[in-house]
Amino acid sequence: MDLAVTNRSERASLPAHQTRLSDKIAVVTGAASGIGKATALRLGREGAYVVALDVDPGGSKTVEELGSMGIEAEFALLDCADRSSVETTFSSMQARLGRVDILVNVVGRTAGSKRSEFAESEPETWDFVIDLSLKATMLCSRQVVRSMRERRSGRIINISSGSWLSPTPTFCDYAAAKAGVVGFTRVLAIELAPYGVTVNAISPGPIETPAFATQSPEMRQRMLSTIPLGEFGRPDDIAAGVAFLASDDARFVVGHNLLINGGRSIA
Ligand SMILES: NC(=O)c1ccc[n+]([C@@H]2O[C@H](COP(=O)([O-])OP(=O)(O)OC[C@H]3O[C@@H](n4cnc5c(N)ncnc54)[C@H](O)[C@@H]3O)[C@@H](O)[C@H]2O)c1
Repeated sequence: MDLAVTNRSERASLPAHQTRLSDKIAVVTGAASGIGKATALRLGREGAYVVALDVDPGGSKTVEELGSMGIEAEFALLDCADRSSVETTFSSMQARLGRVDILVNVVGRTAGSKRSEFAESEPETWDFVIDLSLKATMLCSRQVVRSMRERRSGRIINISSGSWLSPTPTFCDYAAAKAGVVGFTRVLAIELAPYGVTVNAISPGPIETPAFATQSPEMRQRMLSTIPLGEFGRPDDIAAGVAFLASDDARFVVGHNLLINGGRSIA
């Protein structure tokens, strides 16, 4: 595939700072909705060829949206928590495209309606939350780290959460998984830095996404009251942070956990 010509018509009409990712191949998990969708759109607009992955076939709409802007991208249906599907999808994708320059691990979920205080929680629910919110990140990362190390180039950006920095009752399993994402990020970062590969995390505060809309009005109000900026974040706020970490502007940023939360952690 000739990436030198990919997205050329779109790039011609963008200011220089919006072509920071020209000729990069970016894989975004959880790209059908919320933060993953906004990230896929943003990286595509910045010049990357985006591979959008999601367990929801609606992820193809993200690619259609990019297509309507004249930006080439592709979608693959994938359960990022299923080891053998992850291995098969990533190996065929890398064989076809030649490489992955940027991996953004977005997939993650709370226990939703099964959320409870720890004393009442069930280990089956922890498995669900930890599989989606930590293990999926490790499984997908494992598929790209060897080739990034060999090429001495690559970016991995993991979406954590502020849930473990600003603890809220009933999120024990999710906070444990997302703190795990930051621990994973820091150790992987120190392993890969000597090869010129950077690994960083972002911990979003409350962001208005379809997942967040399922919170009760009481919970929303309680969270809003903890944000000094006085409003919830938007998926684009996180996508902007990902684009920065994926770009050469973040060349010297290693093992960082970027808090994008309207000041929630300093309140
Ligand atoms: N929205 C927030 O307030 C917030 C705050 C902090 C962290 N986060 C984290 O940001 C990430 C995205 O959250 P969001 O609010 O955009 O969620 P969302 O539900 O809007 O989007 C998540 C996407 O992941 C996909 N997905 C779920 N399970 C999958 C699987 N097994 N394989 C592949 N795709 C799968 C869903 O289909 C969906 O498209 C998550 O890791 C979440 O924990 C969100």
